Amino acid sequence: MTFDAREFRDALGCFATGVSVITSYNQQNEPMGVTVNSFSSVSIDPPLILFSLAHNGNHCQEFKVSGKFSVNVLSTKQKELCDRFATPLEDRFNGVDYELGENGTPIFEESLSVIECENFALQEAGDHLVFICRVTNVHSKTEEKPLLFYKGGFPTLS
Ligand SMILES: Cc1cc2nc3c(=O)[nH]c(=O)nc-3n(C[C@H](O)[C@H](O)[C@H](O)COP(=O)(O)O)c2cc1C
Repeated sequence: MTFDAREFRDALGCFATGVSVITSYNQQNEPMGVTVNSFSSVSIDPPLILFSLAHNGNHCQEFKVSGKFSVNVLSTKQKELCDRFATPLEDRFNGVDYELGENGTPIFEESLSVIECENFALQEAGDHLVFICRVTNVHSKTEEKPLLFYKGGFPTLS
């Protein structure tokens, strides 16, 4: 390899993405959520999406067990949720308003869209686990601007 981890991260950071919080629930039926920018569309027919979680994160194993998720696509008004679900807190849902989707996973009212899904395939990929999921329901919620992630920051669309 002619590049180091910093150069690799910097190259990846040039690809602007949206930001979403993937929610689920654990075996005690408590809500779980993690901020990700690895969400991507995969297939229209059948409807498939993917996201990846770091193996060394706290939620990778419990997400694998649950197998049901909502992808909350964040708007600029939800930056606080982005920060909250990327921070180690005792209870990330404390004080957060949410409802439950058809599959029982948390949905945030102000999300741009919500994609409910369930496990279709898991792919080990280095230090991450790729969750490929079949979409079971979609909601388009608001017309706000998307929260963007680029070069480690959150630029706004003019
Ligand atoms: C904009 C943004 C995008 C992120 N994308 C991912 C991702 O795709 N996969 C991942 O595992 N962590 C991602 N993270 C980091 C996790 O949100 C963070 O490590 C979180 O604390 C993991 O939670 P957990 O350890 O409780 O599972 C991202 C963080 C931010 C701020």
